[in-house]
Amino acid sequence: MANSAPIGIFDSGYGGLTVFRSIADLLPQYDYIYLGDNARAPYGNRSFDTVHQYTLECVKWFFGQGCPLVILACNTASAKALRTIQQRDLQGLGADKRVLGVIRPTAEVIGNYTKTKSVGVLGTKGTISSGSYEIEIHHFFPEIKVHQMACPMWVPLIENGEYNRPGADYFVVKYLDQLISSAPDIDTILLACTHYPLLINKIKKFLPENIKVVSQGPIVADSLSDYLLRHPEMEQRLSKSGAKRFFTTDDTADFDMHGGAFWGERVKSEVVNLG
Ligand code: DGL
Repeated sequence: MANSAPIGIFDSGYGGLTVFRSIADLLPQYDYIYLGDNARAPYGNRSFDTVHQYTLECVKWFFGQGCPLVILACNTASAKALRTIQQRDLQGLGADKRVLGVIRPTAEVIGNYTKTKSVGVLGTKGTISSGSYEIEIHHFFPEIKVHQMACPMWVPLIENGEYNRPGADYFVVKYLDQLISSAPDIDTILLACTHYPLLINKIKKFLPENIKVVSQGPIVADSLSDYLLRHPEMEQRLSKSGAKRFFTTDDTADFDMHGGAFWGERVKSEVVNLG
């Protein structure tokens, strides 16, 4: 991809592929580079400083690959690193580059899904403890009650390929029961972790039918499309040959084996050494 200016899509591991899929389906004309920091995933239980440091290293790598725009397709990185990167780090890295996250676009529309004005938010420990969703949702919809629940076992189950096996049921039921018993009026559950769509069938199976389950992929894709319409100066810089490359900081054979389930078809990855 010489002289190309792809859109960078980042996640701690495989989860961002679910968002990338929706983006690539809606906006197939652009070039894309995906990076999963599998060597250091999961990020969910790590401190603010660690998530910021890891995410910033990856963002710098994307810039080095010629990406003018990077999407953090990871809620944990969006919650714990995005603000510092946007407000502090970007100045020194190139004022014409942009890094966007997944929390604000989701918060902007979540009010359209709920009738009871009571929303459950499921995410990693890092995303939930940051309080980012509550703050962002209340910014747009102050009347909505936000009930958050950390599901620390879900990402390890998913990353290890256990998401469609019976053993996962225990941890799916455990967190859903805790959430619903604390707030029985919830009618919408947001999967605020880009890994969780892999569990969506199990999640729906154990929830009453009146509760909607919302994944972020289509929401983030719509929001990116809208962003590019509003920012022609960025849109014109992006290269458009429909090329896609997948990178991982860990073993490519593992990435290729597990990544397909998130991406929806076989992936062929290349390794990156950030050191
Ligand atoms: N996919 C990431 C997210 O959306 C979390 C995975 C992790 O814990 O690294 O939060």
